[in-house]
Parts: sequence; structure tokens; C-alpha cells
Amino acid sequence: MAANWKMNLSLYEAGDLLTEIKKAEIDFNRVDVLVAPPFTTLPSAHNLLSGTAIQIAGQNMHWEEAGAFTGEVSPLMLKEAGCTHVILGHSERRALFFETSTIINNKVAAAVNTGLIPILCIGESLQQREEKKTFDIVREQLQESLHSFSQGAVLPEGLILAYEPVWAIGTGKTASPQQAQEVHSFIRDWLREAFDKNTGRLTTILYGGSVRPDNIKELMAQPDIDGALIGGASLKADSFLSIVRFYEG
Ligand code: PGA
Repeated sequence: MAANWKMNLSLYEAGDLLTEIKKAEIDFNRVDVLVAPPFTTLPSAHNLLSGTAIQIAGQNMHWEEAGAFTGEVSPLMLKEAGCTHVILGHSERRALFFETSTIINNKVAAAVNTGLIPILCIGESLQQREEKKTFDIVREQLQESLHSFSQGAVLPEGLILAYEPVWAIGTGKTASPQQAQEVHSFIRDWLREAFDKNTGRLTTILYGGSVRPDNIKELMAQPDIDGALIGGASLKADSFLSIVRFYEG
């Protein structure tokens, strides 16, 4: 269960939220938990969470190691700040900051080279869904964003995919469990073909888009949904923790 805080929470609010999450009883045999705070919060989140099983992700990064890139953060800087993972290709990055799949491919490759696990986001817009282009778009995003790996036909170990239909993000409109399952199963088939059977079977595929305590169980009951990337509902301890503890029945 991955919390994407986006550009939210002050340092103090973040400290309070993390303290509550840290205190909560979470069965880490049943669930992996990860938080993605804004850059400026990363070092203090790392301090607060040290000694726990909760992992930390950056929300974005540049693909170069260093240089004249005003306003950017490098993969190594994320690692130094305590990140094990990095969210890449989020639809807000694609739409508001004009990130193309080629840029995202560079970032995925740089993350892997630095030892960060990418959480690669893909997903169609409402218009694309209405035009029945969902599978084409998802296939294209996968092909282009993972282009660097297609030659050797080996997907970096541990790479995580997040299917996030753009129309479901922050809108309160969750994809139905069936709609999400259909695309997740399509992604697994694509991985099987592009890489191999085991990659298709073993890759973690998260669903994201208006995940809440009241819809998590049904989503997690789908055979190809392994977890969730949670935005709005991850900003409050009670809603995030009830999503994290979805297994409690
Ligand atoms: P949301 O965001 O849960 O607020 O819809 C999810 C995301 O953008 O990762």
C-alpha cells in the first residue's frame, strides 16, 4: 500500500501523520507499506521511520546524476534522503509537466541504475476510455516507458507498475473492480509476452484512483490487483490505516 502525498502536508503535519502510522499495529507479513512525501520531508520521514518496515519513495526525479538542472533532484539524492523507491510517470507529471514516455523511460532506467525501485504509473484519460482506446494507450505507455529494457527482454527485478486511470484520480470516481481487473490482467498478459511468464505472474501491479477504505477490499479481491497507490485518502491516519489493514476483514 503506497501513499502518494503529492504536494501536501507541512513538515509538522507529516511528522504527526507518520507518528500515528508508526504507532499502528500493522501486520507486515500481510502488507508492505510505503509513503511518498514531498522532497523536503524525505530526510525527516527517513529519521522517523528508521527501524520500521515502512519504506519511502520520491514522487519524481531527474534522470541525470548531476548538473545544471535548476529545480531538479537526482536519483542519488533520493537514495541519500532514504528512498528505496520512486514514483515515475504519474499522470500529473505527464499532463501538467509535459513528461513524455521517452522522458519517463530515461527516468526508469536511471532509477534502476541507481538501485531505486521505480513505481511506474500508466493509465488512460476519460476521452481515451470513451473512445475505447484504453488497451492501446496502456500498451503504448508500457512499451515506451520500458523501452530501455525491451532489448534484453528482462524487466528490472522488483519493478512495480501502477494502473491509474486518469479519470479516477482525485475525482471520487473509482474504476469498478471489474474495470480495474480487466486492465491489470491485460498488463500481466503484456508482461508475459514482452518478457516472460514469470515476469507476468510476479510483477506487482497496484491500482490507483480514488482508493478509499470502503472500496479497497473489493479491489484487493481481484486476482490481478496486488495493492494500491493512494492519494487523498493517504493524508489522514484513520483512512490510510484502514486501507493498509484491509486484510482485517
Ligand atoms: P487519489 O490519487 O487517491 O487522490 O485519486 C491517486 C494518485 O494520484 O496516485
